[in-house]
Order: sequence, then C-alpha cells, then structure tokens
Amino acid sequence: MKADEYGVLLHTWYGGKTGCDMDYLLERPDVGFSGNVYDAGNRRSYSHDTLPLEYSCMGTGDYRVPGICVTQPDGTEALDLRYEKHEIFDGLYGINGLPHARGKGESLFITLKDRFSDIRVVLKYGVIAEKDVILRSVSVKNGGDLPVRINRLASLFLPFEDGSYDVIHFGGKYAYERIMSREKISDGVMAFSSVRGFSSHQENPSVIVCKDDCTEENGYCVAAAFVYSGSFKTEAEKDHMGQVKLVMGLNPEQFSWTLKAGEEFESPQVIMSCSEAGLSRLTLNMHNVINENIVNPRFYRKPRPVLINNWEATYFTFDEKKIRAIAASARDMGVEMMVLDDGWFGKRDSDLSGLGDWFVNEEKIRGGLGNLVKKVNDMGMKFGLWMEPEMVSEDSELYRAHPEWAVKIPGRDPVRSRFQLVLDYSNPKVVDYIFERISAILSSANIEYVKWDCNRSMCDFYTPTLSAERMGEMSHRYMLGLYSLLERVTSAFPDVMIEGCSGGGGRFDCGILYYCPQIWCSDNTDAHDRTFIQNGTNYIYPVSSVGAHVSAVPNHQTGRCTSLMTRAVAAMCGSFGYELDPGKLTEEEKSIISEQIREYRKYQPLIYGGDYYRLADPKKGIMSAWEFADKEGNEALVCGVIYRAEVTSVRKKLFPKGLDPEAKYTVEKRISCGGDMTPTCENDGRVYTGAAIQKGGITVPIYKGDDAGFTIVITKIGD
Ligand code: DGJ
Repeated sequence: MKADEYGVLLHTWYGGKTGCDMDYLLERPDVGFSGNVYDAGNRRSYSHDTLPLEYSCMGTGDYRVPGICVTQPDGTEALDLRYEKHEIFDGLYGINGLPHARGKGESLFITLKDRFSDIRVVLKYGVIAEKDVILRSVSVKNGGDLPVRINRLASLFLPFEDGSYDVIHFGGKYAYERIMSREKISDGVMAFSSVRGFSSHQENPSVIVCKDDCTEENGYCVAAAFVYSGSFKTEAEKDHMGQVKLVMGLNPEQFSWTLKAGEEFESPQVIMSCSEAGLSRLTLNMHNVINENIVNPRFYRKPRPVLINNWEATYFTFDEKKIRAIAASARDMGVEMMVLDDGWFGKRDSDLSGLGDWFVNEEKIRGGLGNLVKKVNDMGMKFGLWMEPEMVSEDSELYRAHPEWAVKIPGRDPVRSRFQLVLDYSNPKVVDYIFERISAILSSANIEYVKWDCNRSMCDFYTPTLSAERMGEMSHRYMLGLYSLLERVTSAFPDVMIEGCSGGGGRFDCGILYYCPQIWCSDNTDAHDRTFIQNGTNYIYPVSSVGAHVSAVPNHQTGRCTSLMTRAVAAMCGSFGYELDPGKLTEEEKSIISEQIREYRKYQPLIYGGDYYRLADPKKGIMSAWEFADKEGNEALVCGVIYRAEVTSVRKKLFPKGLDPEAKYTVEKRISCGGDMTPTCENDGRVYTGAAIQKGGITVPIYKGDDAGFTIVITKIGD
C-alpha cells in the first residue's frame, strides 16, 4: 500500500514478493459519474470510485461497499480519511476483550484522520511472515467533543488485482453445516452473512477468494476467517470497473456503536492468508495459524482423550447407574473419557424445562456429581460434562426469579426456539451469576472437560441495560459478555478443556476456538454426510478442532446404515469419540471398536500434526478422500468414503501428496462397506517410489457396496 500525494492510502498489491513498487498498477482512466476529491483539482482520472483504496469510507465519492460509516454530530455521514502516521513494532498486537491471534510476529498500525473532524481510524496489521498470514482489524477514536455513531466497521477490506475471481464459501443448515460452494464473483455484491446473533449453521465467517483457474495445486487464492462468534457479514464485490474486493466484519444490520468524546472502539480481528500455490497450501496456512496462534497453547496438539458421549445413547432418559454402565463398558473397549450430556440438572427430562438451573438433579444422579465422577475416575476414566450456560427455560427457577435476564422486548412476545430463551449476556450481572454457577459445578467434582452448548439463534435484541439510542450495541455487547465469561472460566479452570457446540456446528469459528480447542462439528453423525460437512470445515479449520463421533446404525439423523469401519474413517478426521450405547453392541463390534481406538491412538499425532490434503471432492458425487502426510515425508494416511458401488469401471485412483519423490514406500489398503465386520485388506507387497505414487497415483481398494470406507497407509522404507 502507499499514501499518495493527497495522503490517501491506496492498495497496491497482496501476493508474493515482487521486489518492485507496484504503484504502476494504480493508473485509472477518467470515468464519468465517478467524482473527484476536491483537493485533486481538475484531475479527472483521480477518483475514489475507481481506485483501490486500502480502506474506504462514506463521503469522498466511493459509491462501492465501504469499510466504515459513521454518523457525525451534525447527522451527516461524511468522512474523508487521510494518512496521518504509522508505527511498526515487534510482537502481535492484542485486542482487549476480544479473542485474537497470539504468539510471535510484528505489527503495523496506520492512523488515518478525517480531514474535517477529529475522528481517527487506525488500520491494524499483525504479520506472521513465516506462515504467510496477516491479521487485520480497525479501531475508531473520537477525538472530538461530541458523540459520534459508528454504523458500519469492516475489519477486513481487500481489493484484488484485475482478473476473474471465484468465491468459496461454506453455507448450509442445521445438521448440514459448512458445505463448500465455489461460485464466480459476478457484477454487484455477493454477501454471506448471519443476523442470528451467532456465527450460524447457515453461513460461516470464513471465505476464500481465488482466481478462477486456481486449483488445489496451482494458482492465486486468499482466505479470510473472522475471529468472532456473533453476527457477521462477508461481501465480495465486483464493481463497475470489473474490480473485485472482499470486505468482512461485524454485520452492519445488527450493529451500531456510540463513541462519546475521547472513546475508542476496536473491531474484532480477521486472519487472512495468501497462497500462490493453490488451495492446498492455503488450507495448510490456515491450519497452521489456527493451531499455533488461535488455539490455547495448553491444548495445542495435546493428545485428546477418546470419549464416549451418552446423548444418542440415552437422550434425557438416564440415571447415574445407566451412566456408570455406559462408562464401564466403554472403558473395557479402551475409551478414556465419559461425557455426560444434557439432562443431569434441574428439572430436565425433556427440552421443555430446566435450562438455567445449574444444580445437579439428585433424582437422576444419586449422590451428586462428586459421587458419580469419583466412580467414573475409579474405573480409570476421565469425566466431562455438558452445559448450556447462555440459555434459560421459561419453566426454570432462574427464569421465575429473574425474568428480566432473558432476551426479550418489553410489550412483545419473545420468539421461542427449542422452547428456550437466550440469557442477556450484555448484562454483566447475568455473566457474574453464570460464572458463579459454572465455578460451583466445576469445583464440585473432578470435571476435566465441558461441552459448552448453545441451542438457538438470537432474536428480540433488547437489553434493559442500554438506552434506546444505543440498542444497536446489544448484539456485540452480548459477545463481549460471552468472551469475558469464557476468559474467566478458562483462567479459573485452566486444565478443563472446553468443547464448543451449538446444536452441532452452529458456532464454528475462530472466536470460539480461541477458548475451546475443539467444536462439535455437527449434530449429523452420519458418516456419509460427515464427509461433506468435514470437507467444508477443513478448508479453513484444522482437523483437531473438529469433534467427530462414531454413532449407532441406523443413523439417528438420516436412517442410513454404514459399516463400523466407514463410521470410524469419517470420525478419525477429527477429535475422535463414540456416541452410542455400548450395552447394545455385540462382542464382535466391541472388539472392532477396541481395535479402532488403538489405531486412532497410533495415528493421532499424524492426524493432528501432519499436513492435511484434500484428494477427492465429495461434491463430484463419487467419493470423498483426504490425506494426512507426515511433514518429513515418512508416512501418510489416506482415508476416504466411496459413495456408490459401480459394477464395471476402471479402478479409481488418488494422487497423494507430501511424499519424498525419491524415497521408497509400501502401501497397505483396507476397505469395508455395508454390514461388513472385517475389512478387506490389500497389500501387494510391492515397493513404490514417492514419485510413482504422486504422479501415477494409487488405486483405491476394490469394494462392493455403498459408502465404503477405506484407509491406505503409505510407509517409507529404508534403501
Ligand atoms: C445439541 C448438541 O449438538 C447435541 O450433541 C446434544 O448435546 C444436545 N444439544 C443436547 O441437548
């Protein structure tokens, strides 16, 4: 970027190093109806409506999607931002009260000032050079004497060079989240957003913009992920000149913020990365930065326990004896942690009541949590507990005592969802109360893991703590309340690992990952569907962040039956566990599960620490396949699911990556489908070179039946 002769900050280039001032790219013609800033005189080719601005605002003739809009004390909306100063310092900058990337790097702050008022906008950049990552956020300072209102504040504003671009985004719905779609960026504005108060199942706050010829291995692409869990908006604009730009930040439809004299507002952060070597490299960049700079270092790459969760085994119908029985037979199969899901507290025999009453239900859990946890620990297992701290049921002691703590608009009926209301986390009193309850529960027993659920979208945005003119702050203040609570809980109980959850993956974002190293990826546990959901999720988010479980068949969501191996293959592309009643398993199934757990433990370092590659796109409808390759090229694990059996066809091939072309490897294949108990193994005893495998490909194992799950282990051998 560079400040030009008028002090306007122009964007020149984002890509590989060129060793050259790229400002020759800035020339623009005179374009009718694209006005000129006053101080440019009669220089008609100089227009903010055609130039690539590093950050744009309303009021200086840029009619395209802006970065910032404010209402000035006189009610007007103009801002004319010009370069004032910049500073560069060691270390990555932080943001008070909001999650942000941590670790080593450098920072650059550029201050822009309005020519006609004392509003300053600071563009903040954190640079993690070795990862090809830049962090972006923006702060606004009101140096004037009167209040101003921010109506829009994008964290990321990024113009692209001339060319034809696609956008890759991750939309979906409940139980079918983050399905990858690639679309051409066409004239106008394409927007992907959430106004649900949370990041949502329907669109994810992450995106990729790539040249239209970009492939897995080649081409220019940029990824952006918002470090935020509330309403957001991503806009890809192709303007009247055919120029493309990406904008990401708080959703202006649900945000405004009043800055009194002297106050400052900081936007949440966006992580962005660029690859000129295609999408595989871009994914690795994002996995690296999320693993090493977002996820709490205490948990980064720490082996996660294989767990069993009782939700699909019992739903609300259980008692302490049943939980112990599940734990005991799971322990015998090698499972390391018992997670007690919804229903252990208050009056909670269905989803109609009880949320908010975080006191153990002694009718179900006789002797209390301390007693149950001790018994589970005595079996040699860890214990985890489900909570939904942000919600309240109308039929609860908490709601009866504090109806004003639920989010609803006075004089209107609130929207119910799953028969529950959202607690008002923009009110610090509510956050204090919930912290006290969580602390009491976590101190009452040796609880080593919490599944933190959130089972509805927000609506009825109102809080008694804000005046009418400031009600637009409620949605963001809720997030600040949530993050402050998560900060307090993780500081007070640093060894407790929290798994994020929101009806599955309704809040899968870098804001949550900052506090919760893994997130329950979807309530859909069907192995077939999971290959689509996880494929989309893993474009941006690392494998260790994806909660994935083997569940019973017929699958509770889809009714589909897949083999035990297929289910394990899908669940091993994540933090692995089980979600079924072991009491209903045959002895043969139990012994297969024991073997799966041994295998997962063996491969967990490779799955979490290796490089993840996509090998086959599930959307093509034939199969999904992916690979974990050890960084030194010593070993690779290729996994996949072939959706439909075909009678006569050439054997399908995959092209694994990350191997040493000169080295020699053995290849072992296993596949299973339908009701198969024992997988079919193929080991031809041949020795392959890395070059042969990568160029010529390897065939997938022979199979009969639909949804065949397979693994191919590629191991380097000595000379
Ligand atoms: C939604 C979660 O995604 C499920 O796994 C389960 O915990 C239920 N909530 C419990 O109500």
